Amino acid sequence: MTADVRPVVVLVGPPGAGKSTVAALLAESLGVEVRDTDTDIETATGTPIADLFVTHGEAHFRALEVDAVATALGEHRGVLALGGGAVMRDETQAALRGHTVVFLDVGLAEAASRVGLSSARPLLLGNVRSQMKALLDSRRPTYEAVATHVISTDGRTPTEVAEEILTLL
Ligand code: S3P
Repeated sequence: MTADVRPVVVLVGPPGAGKSTVAALLAESLGVEVRDTDTDIETATGTPIADLFVTHGEAHFRALEVDAVATALGEHRGVLALGGGAVMRDETQAALRGHTVVFLDVGLAEAASRVGLSSARPLLLGNVRSQMKALLDSRRPTYEAVATHVISTDGRTPTEVAEEILTLL
């Protein structure tokens, strides 16, 4: 019999959803390893994601990301966190079929605060918050479409979120 190498659970959601923190808590409870496609790409290229965007452009990063997700889905038996935009690629949507995928949902206020966009400086950060709102709104249908479970993280600690996910597995 061949070993089951699929992830126990795949976490998706926008920046600020808490994917990395929840992934670490889940992995600890389940006694498995965490894998994160952003980290995989940074390790493979030796370059921080932000620098990849600047030097090679987003399209180049997205192509690397499609491959990183496919590889991780095929070989990681643990908790897998995807970069926030990974699900927007058709190849990744197809690759996620049949997996246990949890969408960590988050509203604009909490997502912005978790990524350090305080509402205290509207002139400086208001535009970025608008972009973040547009990003959350445009991606939500796709997160919902790929997810087998949707969990709201608003007003909840990562531990509470992780505990709810554990009841689903
Ligand atoms: C991105 C989210 C980031 C990272 C990259 C692009 C996005 O990951 O993959 O900066 O498009 O939402 P996190 O969701 O872990 O911040």
